[in-house]
Amino acid sequence: MLGLAILITLSSVKALSSTCPAYKCNKTNLPNQSSCSYLNTTSNITYVNPCKGDYICISTSSTSSQCQYKSSYIANSQVSGAKCLYNQDCTNSNTCIQNTCHGLSINTPCKSHLDCDVGLFCTPSNMTCVPQLKKGQLGCYEDANCVNNAGCQVFSQSNPENNICTEYFSVDDYEVLAGCNATGDVNYLCKSGFCVDIGTSLCYPAPISAKKTPISCLNNTVCISKLTGKAEQVFTTSCNCGLNSESIMFCNIFPGDDVYNEYDSMVRDWITSGNIMKCNTYGRFGSSCMKSYWSDSKYKEFTRKMYRALYYPKFVNAEDCVLEMAFYEYYELLDKGFGDFIALGGMIAFLIV
Ligand SMILES: *[C@@H]1O[C@H](CO)[C@@H](O)[C@H](O)[C@H]1NC(C)=O
Ligand SMILES: *[C@@H]1O[C@H](CO)[C@@H](O)[C@H](O)[C@H]1NC(C)=O
Ligand SMILES: *[C@@H]1O[C@H](CO)[C@@H](O)[C@H](O)[C@H]1NC(C)=O
Ligand SMILES: *[C@@H]1O[C@H](CO)[C@@H](O)[C@H](O)[C@H]1NC(C)=O
Ligand SMILES: *[C@@H]1O[C@H](CO)[C@@H](O)[C@H](O)[C@H]1NC(C)=O
Ligand SMILES: *[C@@H]1O[C@H](CO)[C@@H](O)[C@H](O)[C@H]1NC(C)=O
Ligand SMILES: *[C@@H]1O[C@H](CO)[C@@H](O)[C@H](O)[C@H]1NC(C)=O
Repeated sequence: MLGLAILITLSSVKALSSTCPAYKCNKTNLPNQSSCSYLNTTSNITYVNPCKGDYICISTSSTSSQCQYKSSYIANSQVSGAKCLYNQDCTNSNTCIQNTCHGLSINTPCKSHLDCDVGLFCTPSNMTCVPQLKKGQLGCYEDANCVNNAGCQVFSQSNPENNICTEYFSVDDYEVLAGCNATGDVNYLCKSGFCVDIGTSLCYPAPISAKKTPISCLNNTVCISKLTGKAEQVFTTSCNCGLNSESIMFCNIFPGDDVYNEYDSMVRDWITSGNIMKCNTYGRFGSSCMKSYWSDSKYKEFTRKMYRALYYPKFVNAEDCVLEMAFYEYYELLDKGFGDFIALGGMIAFLIV
């Protein structure tokens, strides 16, 4: 999966020099036996040695990481609807009944959405669990107020009267969609998964990179899209350090690029599978729900594609041992349950890293 066949002409690579660290798999340069990565600030080389067994690489300072035993159990990580064995597996005041976490029922006082059972949310008007708003219903402040396969189109932060629950991936190109910005955002209410404010805030075709990816860069000036949509917009993305051994920077990809589409189609898959409806409103895209209702292979495929799309520059030309080191940490963060709730409807706001 990580065998990215990347062809970059050496001449174009050598011409660029950045101040990014280089990542090298070489254990002889590590300070001690339990170190898994170490940055030599003089040479700007980060030496990497993956951890053995069930140990994962945890950063202990800005320059070094240590192998630590992977904590196999995280209490209170399962949202309502997700699988459990005992109460302590479930979040907040949820209880484990017949191997499923259950939250508070309708009209019960609550403090957070996580307190409420599947299909409910904690309404700010009187802090009780009430049914989620259906598609097309007005009155939401955020995605969590809407049924799990819809997000909130926010026209006004203060007055929810005009805010409407809208099905994910339902709004056509060039249809008005509240809340986008002039630089363009990923937005899963749009069919294209992308929106922009071009005078009017609307759904828009997802841009693709102007050149074949990966594109090496020193700054954002080369990180541009093809002319996109009716307004022939050129979008810009950022130039980032990677995990490669040559300190080369690469442009992030655009939401219309192939690698991004692979991730995007997993998100669509999760929604159309119907499994998204089985968990707490806050756990709709969380790992506890996905692990409970998706096969292990699907969940892992989702995770890998997500990281490749969101952290594309890190993957390009990176040695396997470096990715292994980086990915164990990612997997660990992901295992922390509802922490990775995605505030869809806005941009990709994964609460990771
Ligand atoms: C190392 O990185 C620092 C900060 O990113 C930079 O100022 C410095 O010039 C780099 N040194 C080398 C040798 O690339
Ligand atoms: C690791 O680093 C040492 C010292 O810098 C060097 O002698 C050795 O050749 C390196 N090994 C590999 C596999 O790059
Ligand atoms: C290994 O080296 C790191 C970084 O210098 C240090 O923080 C850590 O305490 C050392 N661990 C051991 C077991 O010596
Ligand atoms: C860091 O790199 C410099 C230059 O390559 C080298 O002289 C120095 O010994 C290294 N420091 C450590 C702690 O490995
Ligand atoms: C709380 O407010 C909702 C509407 O926002 C209403 O439907 C519900 O009956 C209220 N519950 C209580 C216990 O007052
Ligand atoms: C628009 O959204 C992008 C991506 O989320 C963000 O980085 C940028 O700061 C936003 N721009 C404005 C003008 O709000
Ligand atoms: C951006 O990088 C290019 C080389 O790719 C360089 O010619 C240009 O001066 C840089 N622009 C800025 C604003 O740093």
